[in-house]
Amino acid sequence: MDNDHTSIADVKLPGNQGKEVRLRGWIYRTRGSNRMLFIVLRDSTDIIQCVGSRDDLGEVVFDTARALNIESSISVHGKLNQDSRAPGGYELHLSAVEPVSPAERFPITKDQSEEFLRDNRHLWLRSRKMNAVLKVRSTVTGAIHDFFRSRGYYEFTPPILTPNAAEGGSTLFEVKYYDRKIYMTQTWQLYAEAAIFSLERIYDVSPTFRAEKSKTSRHLSEFWMAEMEAAWMGYREAIEVANQEIKFIIARVLERNRSELEILEADASRLEPLLSREWPVITYTEALEILKEKKMEVTWGKDLRTIEEEALMENFDTPVTVIQYPKEAMAFYKPVEENANAPGPVAKCFDMLAPEGYGEIIGGSERDTDISSISKALEKEGEKVENYDWYLDLRRYGSVQHSGYGVGVERLIAWICKLENIKDAIPFPRTLTRVTP
Ligand code: 4AD
Ligand code: MG
Repeated sequence: MDNDHTSIADVKLPGNQGKEVRLRGWIYRTRGSNRMLFIVLRDSTDIIQCVGSRDDLGEVVFDTARALNIESSISVHGKLNQDSRAPGGYELHLSAVEPVSPAERFPITKDQSEEFLRDNRHLWLRSRKMNAVLKVRSTVTGAIHDFFRSRGYYEFTPPILTPNAAEGGSTLFEVKYYDRKIYMTQTWQLYAEAAIFSLERIYDVSPTFRAEKSKTSRHLSEFWMAEMEAAWMGYREAIEVANQEIKFIIARVLERNRSELEILEADASRLEPLLSREWPVITYTEALEILKEKKMEVTWGKDLRTIEEEALMENFDTPVTVIQYPKEAMAFYKPVEENANAPGPVAKCFDMLAPEGYGEIIGGSERDTDISSISKALEKEGEKVENYDWYLDLRRYGSVQHSGYGVGVERLIAWICKLENIKDAIPFPRTLTRVTP
């Protein structure tokens, strides 16, 4: 805050009874009579109730202030008064109200549809809900940087425009690139695999694009993925890092965002017990057995669908890592796990599933280092092996065991904040049916 103005969060600290302060912000709610005026003022930090009388403010100021619409920007002056009924414990007794810019009638009123609110996302960002989500989001991405940096990982920034597919051709967004066609990135992975031969341990938090053709509450066309890649690391160790990372993020949110979780009605007591518990690791084959007990038969070899993941997670109240999915159903870069107890070939790979029906929040694996098996798998996916020649170089010049994974940032935020729809975990969602505002 500048010298003149205090933030609402700061004035709400204990011991401010009777202090004179100047605040600025936007009118969140307003009501009044001919003699008294009540303004709930909001700034980025919080809201506070302000009360003014015609006598204290004078005729002209009172009538001007009373005529202001919600979302008008104002500056106010007054004395803090402790009031146990007021949210946060203080009320401001106004001695001055100065309009900065009076608002036109605000289009968002009570009880509007989710779609209307998303059509007006540029204005709805001001809501207490979006304000709270965006604060948690800032904590989450900040925690990811802190987690990896404090463990000696380097931040590595991948290209967004790429000629290669890594997660299958069907979700690629094509871009006209001068006179040729290329794609928006689906994952940093292939470039990360090149970079670990220089930096060994790297991470990023970066935009990711997938042309998802179905409308769900979990898929965005543009989302952020937080990925890591590490040389000299097997997938079992990567799973341990992933568990530590998610616990680190949750601990940070619990430390910094209690009041935001409250605003979102995302009870912190759902998250607290997770920190001290072990999170289970089960195999895909074991997952099918659990599903069978629930009368859900999945043919061995098929990837798990959303409904199957949901049914599986009914048995757990922590995140669960499912390992060793069938090799056939997996992307070309996932190697075979030779020592598995399974009816067919499985991959050294894993997904982390969140509880409470939030589904897959992490996908990861060890990376195949065998040129011929990668080439075969690429051909099977219908890719031209020669397009991946640079990637195969990484196996030709000093190849080492390496692993990595990607966290779906919005999936994680949706779970932590208990959001009904992933679209509210990102400021301006892009989906099959929405690219505005
Ligand atoms: O499981 P995915 O496809 O894994 C990869 O892309 C690997 N190359 C990552 C790696 O090993 N470096 O995606 C990772 C995560 C998913 O678990 C999910 O949480 C999220 O990204 N995700 C999406 N989130 C929102 N909208 C979508 N359309 C998403 N697709 C994947
Ligand atoms: Mg996946």
